[in-house]
Amino acid sequence: MAVRFAREEELPRVNALRSQVNDVHVAGRPDVFRPGFSQEMQDFLYAIWRDPDKEIAVCERNGAICGFAVLHRVKRPESPIRLAMDYIDIDEFGVDAACRRQGVGAEMIEFIRGWAREQGYRRLELNMWEFNEDALAFYEALGFSTYRRYMEMTI
Ligand SMILES: CC(C)(COP(=O)(O)OP(=O)(O)OC[C@H]1O[C@@H](n2cnc3c(N)ncnc32)[C@H](O)[C@@H]1OP(=O)(O)O)[C@@H](O)C(=O)NCCC(=O)NCCS
Repeated sequence: MAVRFAREEELPRVNALRSQVNDVHVAGRPDVFRPGFSQEMQDFLYAIWRDPDKEIAVCERNGAICGFAVLHRVKRPESPIRLAMDYIDIDEFGVDAACRRQGVGAEMIEFIRGWAREQGYRRLELNMWEFNEDALAFYEALGFSTYRRYMEMTI
């Protein structure tokens, strides 16, 4: 198992994994997420690919890409309320359904931590949907903790 940055020819496979993540979101919040995986959503990965502040990491196992992560270097300037802050945001993250619970996600988080620290970052951040209990259990097992909440009410 090796985690590394993606090559351009691997982006269609990364999109297949992004489609699986989208399906999880559609199943959990059909009131929010659009079903299917449109051309627009596929093209968005190429915009990520060209964005100098973003990276696409993949996990390769037995010659196949079985997981991916979209990483975003965020530099928030100081505001009247908040201090300046630099961190890596994990914008997207997913493991092929056929490869889950085999340590792929954990290996990717380990890679991301090492890469971020090498660049001087001391903080990883991500956001996730409350219905996604599997993802919450995973992120908490890897050491993430909740520091802020989004709340809602149906009216
Ligand atoms: C969440 C996800 C990325 C986890 O990846 P994974 O490769 O299966 O995770 P790992 O095998 O590395 O798990 C590491 C540890 O996390 C915890 N964990 C992972 N999945 C879990 C689950 N479904 N339920 C409970 N704990 C879980 C366990 O402690 C696990 O260690 P163990 O298997 O020795 O018990 C994967 O399930 C996934 O892609 N889900 C669909 C997409 C998604 O929700 N992405 C995140 C969107 S924010």
